[in-house]
Amino acid sequence: MVDTRVNLCGITIDNPVIPASGTFGYGYEFAELYDINCLGTFSFKGTTLDPRFGNDTPRIAECPSGMLNSVGLQNPGVDDVIREELPKLERVFHKPVMANVSGFSTDEYAEVVKRLDRSAVSDMIGWYEINISCPNVHGGGMSFGTDAKMAAEVVKAVRWMTDKPIIMKLSPNVTDVTEIARACETEGADGISLINTLMGMRFDLRTKKPILANVTGGLSGPAVFPVALRMVYQTAKAVNIPVIGMGGVSSAEDVLEMMMAGAVAVEVGAANLVDPYASRNIVRDLPAAMKKYGIDSF
Ligand SMILES: Cc1cc2nc3c(=O)[nH]c(=O)nc-3n(C[C@H](O)[C@H](O)[C@H](O)COP(=O)(O)O)c2cc1C
Repeated sequence: MVDTRVNLCGITIDNPVIPASGTFGYGYEFAELYDINCLGTFSFKGTTLDPRFGNDTPRIAECPSGMLNSVGLQNPGVDDVIREELPKLERVFHKPVMANVSGFSTDEYAEVVKRLDRSAVSDMIGWYEINISCPNVHGGGMSFGTDAKMAAEVVKAVRWMTDKPIIMKLSPNVTDVTEIARACETEGADGISLINTLMGMRFDLRTKKPILANVTGGLSGPAVFPVALRMVYQTAKAVNIPVIGMGGVSSAEDVLEMMMAGAVAVEVGAANLVDPYASRNIVRDLPAAMKKYGIDSF
């Protein structure tokens, strides 16, 4: 019998498989398809202080082995998440959930964490994943994740608001991701997750215009897997806090590669949009894949 359990910033989870933010809603939508308690945990949709409609459409473009998205952090706002979304999740998910927080200023990140942490549903939250890497919004998101000083400021601000583990989600759209990761660790982050999407674009040959209304979007899916793996490997060597790997993971074998690169857990994103059962299937396939490659535990 293999042991799939891992310890993520002090919390033991049954397996390292975590659906990624923005590809799994607030979880209960997928609970209509299968028992989501089979997952290690999942990261819910990036939540901001105010409700956001997101960017204009079209905001999805398919690519060979991946997809571009420019959704732009559509979400109902933190108060609605506390009042409506998390109580619905509580009925179907009985494990700590990862709260994905986004913002346009350091104060906004801190305020969202503060409201979640002092809410009636705060017991449901195991970790905060602070998204400083969204490439699809202007004046926030990725601008924090591409500057070590700004990234450190965000860590400092949210650190005051909670005793729960803070996982900083980093962008691949930088020259040296290890510099940003180290700055987050120094300021007191408990973990790092990466990668968010890689900036890209496509044209429609008939209209001769960019396909996405936002012009650029974030590339994810199997196309980015080798890039993600390289960045996870570099980051895991550079810091002494746990690293969650993601980017193009779509099979149990991909999970094993991420773990070999130094990840302690693995998020699964675009694969959930191709097949809503993808994360469940990875959890199901993981023990056999471990056995095949002679891995007893992580
Ligand atoms: C449609 C879509 C929406 C996303 N929304 C968020 C988000 O709200 N917050 C966040 O941190 N990452 C978001 N992401 C990024 C994913 O969580 C993940 O980091 C990225 O897609 C790479 O993983 P993948 O190749 O497995 O999709 C989104 C990705 C997609 C495809």
